[in-house]
Formats: sequence, structure tokens, C-alpha cells
Amino acid sequence: MNPNLELPWVEKYRPKKLNEVVGQKIIVQRLKEYVNSKNMPHMMFAGPAGCGKTSCAVALAKEMYTDHLEQNFLELNASDTRGIDVVRGQIKDFARTLAFNAQHKVIFLDEADSLTNDAQHALRRTMEKYTKTARFILNVNYSSRIIEPIQSRCIVFRFSRLQETDLNQKLNEIAKAEQLELDEKALKAIAYISDGDLRKATNALQGASILGKKISEESIFNVSSRAKPVEIKEMILLALEQKFLDVRNRLDKLMLEHGMSGEDVMVQVYKETLDLDETILDTKKKIELVNIIGEYNFRLVQGANERIQLEALMAQFMKFGNKS
Ligand SMILES: Nc1ncnc2c1ncn2[C@@H]1O[C@H](COP(=O)(O)OP(=O)(O)OP(=O)(O)O)[C@@H](O)[C@H]1O
Ligand SMILES: [Mg+2]
Repeated sequence: MNPNLELPWVEKYRPKKLNEVVGQKIIVQRLKEYVNSKNMPHMMFAGPAGCGKTSCAVALAKEMYTDHLEQNFLELNASDTRGIDVVRGQIKDFARTLAFNAQHKVIFLDEADSLTNDAQHALRRTMEKYTKTARFILNVNYSSRIIEPIQSRCIVFRFSRLQETDLNQKLNEIAKAEQLELDEKALKAIAYISDGDLRKATNALQGASILGKKISEESIFNVSSRAKPVEIKEMILLALEQKFLDVRNRLDKLMLEHGMSGEDVMVQVYKETLDLDETILDTKKKIELVNIIGEYNFRLVQGANERIQLEALMAQFMKFGNKS
């Protein structure tokens, strides 16, 4: 089959059971206890992207309601339905009728941090009123965006970025199922570009697989518009040696050949700066540079010209080399 027509692997390999979720051990264990007791509190799943929040909510519901999922489980993506109408209409209608062959229904609001303030207040009343028949799971990236009275009604589970071993476990499973050759170096590259986000990791793997069954470090960096760490490191070293023209050539290569955006480059410069050996750049200088990177990053986000900002940032690095 043409791999372009295939289901995205993030959906194809989304965990169907809690046992298939990697990492987040303590959370998964608690959720299994809820399944066993067929009862659960209102919950909030908070944490960074791609670490299993939606997957856990869906797997929990599937295990809890096996045959009666549709009658008892309502899934809404709050970013499509941010307003109060949905809370007053669809959610209320679902919440107020009795659960089918179960103690309660579950209403799952994905990306609930995009609910408007009014909608959150309406939701709070709905949660209170229908506690006998319905439980809520709210997924958020930032729990602070949810009003306090809702937070205090929920048990908050904080999901963390996935560890490299957890990413590897899942990636190896996918590689096996898709008959890919995935070596140590490629796995390292995926871990580097994905920052503990398994969605990003899986997408990179699927992207690289279009180039061939053998997944290499190169192909991962190519499809993810990221430079190899060493390329960025070399650029920083050139800057510290005050070789401005060479730095500019490197920037050309990164932005034109790899198609990296200004922000992509800056994020990697930040990472590599922190990783530099103490003999090259001591902690005190690193702290000052991180502060400077923060400032330039802010300018980029505000829409300043990215090429100029990057060159200016690298010019700042020149002040920190051993020659000066
Ligand atoms: N802990 C995990 N175990 C197994 N697979 C995972 C895990 N985390 C993420 N994935 C994979 O990554 C994809 C995205 O995960 P999921 O939708 O659960 O992320 P999320 O935490 O809800 O992210 P977001 O905050 O962006 O909504 C899933 O389809 C799944 O394949
Ligand atoms: Mg999600």
C-alpha cells in the first residue's frame, strides 16, 4: 500500500488499553483501579503535548464500558466547541440521563483549557448538578487556565514528558509492526527531536519511513527540519572563535538547505549552549547567554526579522569566546 494513503501512525498505534500506555506508571495504575471499581472521580489530566492524556482518557473509557461505550461516553474537543452553548446544550443533555448498565457516564472534554470563562462557569454548575449521573475528564496543557472551582472538584493528574526508554519501547514496537530497521543512532535522533513527545516521535518515524525501510539518523533529521546537534554546536564554536563569515554560512545552510525556521534554530542553539563543555563555556557565561537567548527568542515571537535576529544573537556569542 502507498504509505501516503495509510492512517497516520499516531492513530494506528494509539493505545487501545491502559496496558498499552508507556510511562506515566502511577497514573495508569490509579486509572486501572477506577476501572476495577467501575467508579471514578472528576479528573483533570494536565501536561505537555503528546504524552498520553487523550490516549489514557479514551483507553479508560473503553475498558470501563466495554460493550456500552457509546451510550455512556461523550467525547468533545473543547477547542471546536469553546462556548457556553455546548455546555448548556449537548453536555447537559448527555449528563442528565441515567447511565446505561453502569454507575455513571463519562464526559471527556479534550483541550478544555480553550473553554471560555463563561463556559467554564456553566460547566461548574453542570458538574455539581449531575454528579450522581456523570463524571468529567478534562484534558489541559495548563491547569492554571481552568477556574479554581472546577480544579477543586477534580483530582488532578500531572502527566510528564516521556522518558527516552518509554519512547524507545513504543518506537521499537511500531518499527517491528511496520518492518522497519531502526538502529540505536536513529532512536537517539528521534529522542533528540521529540522532547518527550511521542506524537512528534511517531510522526518523525512515519515521515522517515517514506524514504525507505531503513531508518537512519540522517532521515530523521531531514524529515523533522532539525539540524544534527553537531551542526549547531559547530556553529556556536565558530561564533565563540569570532569567525562571523563562517557562522553566516552555517546559518544559510541550516535555513535554506534544512528549511529550518528562525525559532527552530534558536531552540537548538539554546539546547546546545546548555550542553557545551565547561572548558569551552563556564556556567556563569552560560547563564548570561541563556538570558540573551531568551531576549532574542522574544523578539522572534514578536515578529522581528528572523535572519537578522539570529545573526545578532550569534554576534552576542562572539563576546563570550576565549579570545575576548
Ligand atoms: N504514554 C503513551 N503511551 C503510548 N502512546 C502514547 C503515549 N503518549 C502519546 N502516545 C502516542 O502519541 C499520540 C498522541 O498522544 P495523545 O493524544 O494521548 O497526547 P496528549 O497528551 O493528549 O497530547 P495533547 O496535549 O497534544 O492533546 C497517540 O496517538 C499515541 O500513539
Ligand atoms: Mg490530547
